[in-house]
Amino acid sequence: MKLGVLISGRGSNLKSLIDACAQPDFPAEIVCVLSNNPDAAGLAHAARAGIPTQVFNHKDFARRETFEALLDEALRAAGVELVCNAGFMRILTDGFVAKWHNRQINIHPSLLPSFKGLHVHQRTLEAGVRISGCTVHYVRPEMDEGPIIAQAAVPVLPDDTPETLSARVLEAEHKLYPMAVRLIAEGKVRVVNERVALNFNGSDAAGPLFVPPLASE
Ligand code: GRF
Repeated sequence: MKLGVLISGRGSNLKSLIDACAQPDFPAEIVCVLSNNPDAAGLAHAARAGIPTQVFNHKDFARRETFEALLDEALRAAGVELVCNAGFMRILTDGFVAKWHNRQINIHPSLLPSFKGLHVHQRTLEAGVRISGCTVHYVRPEMDEGPIIAQAAVPVLPDDTPETLSARVLEAEHKLYPMAVRLIAEGKVRVVNERVALNFNGSDAAGPLFVPPLASE
């Protein structure tokens, strides 16, 4: 499956996808990386891996639709079958989202539908939840909404700062995103009534996760 990755910054999730695609048995390849930010550090990951990159600086365009038309054109020209948003910080119009319906996914650093939007880890700590995590979901017009493909959970620890929590969640993101892409590329993901029907044997994952851990007897 041909992937196009949209980034705006650091690109650590892009890097995890590049590494996954380098595995001989991985059923996807990245054919282009697009950024709205010319200074996105992630562009260097793509360049090192020999993946074509293009920058469309949103500041150069008065209308969001013009910017998005160029993104769309670049994705189509590269033959992209699945768009992977990886830290892409522009809101996309309904028109763009409709064009890539069920062919565009995003990763978000919380257990959606909790903590949509920005400053996720700060708000997670303020809320005092014991478990956080990350979510890969199909993109819909509303930000951080859409059928959930996969989630990973991590504990929130007593001394956590937004930075330490973010690092723990990010480690999970780097495993979850390639896993979700693999599921899609292998044809194991279907959207039925705006929920994802997954083709996997649930018995392995059925145990509860306790934070704090259950006291051992
Ligand atoms: C990640 O936490 C991702 O979940 C969120 O933005 C961050 C991007 O990080 N959407 P990176 O650019 O992939 O390192």
